[in-house]
Amino acid sequence: MNRQKKIVLKNLSKTFGNKIVLCNVNLEIFNNESLVIMGGSGTGKSVLLKCIIGLLMPDKGSAIMINDKDYSNIPITKRFDENLEIGVLFQGNALFDSMNICKNITFGLEQRKKIDKAEARKIASEKLAMVELSDNILDLYPVEISGGMQKRVALARVIALNPKLIFFDEPTSGLDPVTSDKISTLIRNVSQKIKATTVTITHDVRCMKKIADYIAVIANQTIIWHSNVADLYKTENPYIRDFINDI
Ligand SMILES: Nc1ncnc2c1ncn2[C@@H]1O[C@H](COP(=O)(O)OP(=O)(O)OP(=O)(O)O)[C@@H](O)[C@H]1O
Ligand SMILES: [Mg+2]
Repeated sequence: MNRQKKIVLKNLSKTFGNKIVLCNVNLEIFNNESLVIMGGSGTGKSVLLKCIIGLLMPDKGSAIMINDKDYSNIPITKRFDENLEIGVLFQGNALFDSMNICKNITFGLEQRKKIDKAEARKIASEKLAMVELSDNILDLYPVEISGGMQKRVALARVIALNPKLIFFDEPTSGLDPVTSDKISTLIRNVSQKIKATTVTITHDVRCMKKIADYIAVIANQTIIWHSNVADLYKTENPYIRDFINDI
């Protein structure tokens, strides 16, 4: 099968002051595949994501190619243009507390094109249906719905822009195992439906099992292991064995 590269990271490094967070990270992510990045707390997973999407600039020997274009020095605003179609679900939902659910879902869309209220509600309802929520919550505010529903709304907001590349940072954190499984399955199904390439950061092994085609493990400032799910269970690497035996 011909696997087309979607993202290529070359020697990506990031330091804060004298703290080296990432050192020479090399990674290839392929079109229409689901990559899960795993690693302990504070190992630099979110920093890696921020470097890829342009919220942070890597500071040495790095190249971030997306669809064959070098994005290393292109800031976030330019990486989110129509052509690139990136969606991000940031760690902790990041729904806007002061906006109702409808506005939360359509906010990004309204930044790009003029849509009237009726159209916004129609789009928000469609996206809610995709994440298996009823449109009777359109006028509620984030504090009025459960944590699991908030994750679904956050997913609805991400897919509102029809992204072809989606990043999920800890999409199941703070959820009970049953809800976590439901959200993981939903992420997998919705991403496949809209034919998006996905990169999911998690330390939730259950989530990884539901979502991953490929897995990359971060430790000691770099990616120490990268392969498919079958290989993960065969590996002798003690760090990774500890990780997957943790459930
Ligand atoms: N803007 C920043 N300035 C200084 N240090 C930072 C900054 N952002 C992250 N760091 C440091 O980089 C390290 C990695 O942080 P990061 O948020 O990527 O961890 P993580 O792997 O996502 O952890 P978690 O699983 O807890 O979300 C941490 O030690 C953190 O304190
Ligand atoms: Mg993080």
